[in-house]
Amino acid sequence: MDSVKIGICGLGTVGSGTFNVLQRNADVIGARARTPLQVVHVGARRDNPACDLGPTRVSRDIFDVARDPEVQILVELIGGTTVARELVEEAIRNHKHVVTANKALIAEFGNEIFALAREHGVAVRYEAAVAGGIPIIKALREGLAGNRIEWLAGIINGTGNFILTEMRDKGREFADVLAEAQALGYAEADPTFDVEGIDAAHKLVILASLAFGMPLQFASVYTEGITQLTPQDVDYAEELGYRIKHLGVAKQNGEGVELRVHPTLIPEQRLLANVNGVKNAVLVEGDAVGPTLYYGAGAGAEPTASAVVADLVDLARDISAGQANQVPCLGVAEEQIRDLPVVPMSEVKTPWYLRMVAEDRPGVLGRVATIFSEQGISIEALIQKAPAEGETRVPLIVLTNTASQGRVDAAVAAIESLDTITGEIARIRVEVLDG
Ligand code: HSE
Repeated sequence: MDSVKIGICGLGTVGSGTFNVLQRNADVIGARARTPLQVVHVGARRDNPACDLGPTRVSRDIFDVARDPEVQILVELIGGTTVARELVEEAIRNHKHVVTANKALIAEFGNEIFALAREHGVAVRYEAAVAGGIPIIKALREGLAGNRIEWLAGIINGTGNFILTEMRDKGREFADVLAEAQALGYAEADPTFDVEGIDAAHKLVILASLAFGMPLQFASVYTEGITQLTPQDVDYAEELGYRIKHLGVAKQNGEGVELRVHPTLIPEQRLLANVNGVKNAVLVEGDAVGPTLYYGAGAGAEPTASAVVADLVDLARDISAGQANQVPCLGVAEEQIRDLPVVPMSEVKTPWYLRMVAEDRPGVLGRVATIFSEQGISIEALIQKAPAEGETRVPLIVLTNTASQGRVDAAVAAIESLDTITGEIARIRVEVLDG
């Protein structure tokens, strides 16, 4: 039986992991693909990869792989969006299928790349781009194909989740935990991508496009990071029965879609609230299946390689079946993709956690409560702490019922303008996640 010939570009953590998994599990992988998968060409700019390449052809110029007539599938694992895009487009123009783990590339340029792939009759697969080893792309594209997806919510950045877990469990400071995440190799090359929510936004937009059959709209994702969270907020949330997680949320809302990444209070009994450390998890609600949860390693050499190899097996099967039988890049026939409007954040409704510092004197709480009532916002729970020795101000924590961000913005502005309130009000959305 002829083998399917693979070229791998990039031999860092994931590239080496992919090479190793293909070698070690060649028997089961070949049986599943109905053909052996053979790496015939590697493009790598570095020496000393964490794998034994044996006699495999190695080129310093990664574009040699994209031009190699023997290569049928090019695996892009170099990261970034400039050279990676040129490489992928060159491979497509040379009629090679592409597998990539590059979430930024797909989120920002996927529409153009998929169109080029269609034009040249090849496929682009990107399971490893979202949530590492968790087969969430396949679940949305195929496992849940019989459902209308109503919403999904995920912890899709391992570094951010590691930081929040350590802050909560060990009371550690943000900067200290981030430095450890970098040393452990979880963080992006630029860790602001992790802590400012950009990495999660890349992943969310991919999930939303698959879930709702819409083009990738990275620029429309509302993105808020975790850098403003304090250990106090983590403690108060706990007192109210919640955990703080950094979530990506995509939700059908009337004719539009909410696309948002931000810190979120989650009731402590929910499974998502108990996803800790660098683990990822995605909760998907389909109209037929109800809530489903996908959990596992969101990063790391072999978990990510597991997803890359799954795509290679799929493509090897597609090559045998012929182009007409290929699964479309976004899982939906191209002519069925609809451009859905993204709901403005001012109209997005959630309950809210608000923390303010108030003068401890009669009437202050009453005035704050009146402002909420004027905006039609109902208070669900309230904590007021006793003032510290010699202090005239107290922390006031308010949990609201569901309210639009527009109403909450107005209430917050009015409360912040009171002379009995000091500084800005900290605010975090709440997701109840009841499926
Ligand atoms: N920096 C990413 C994370 C790696 O922490 O989740 C996987 O995409």
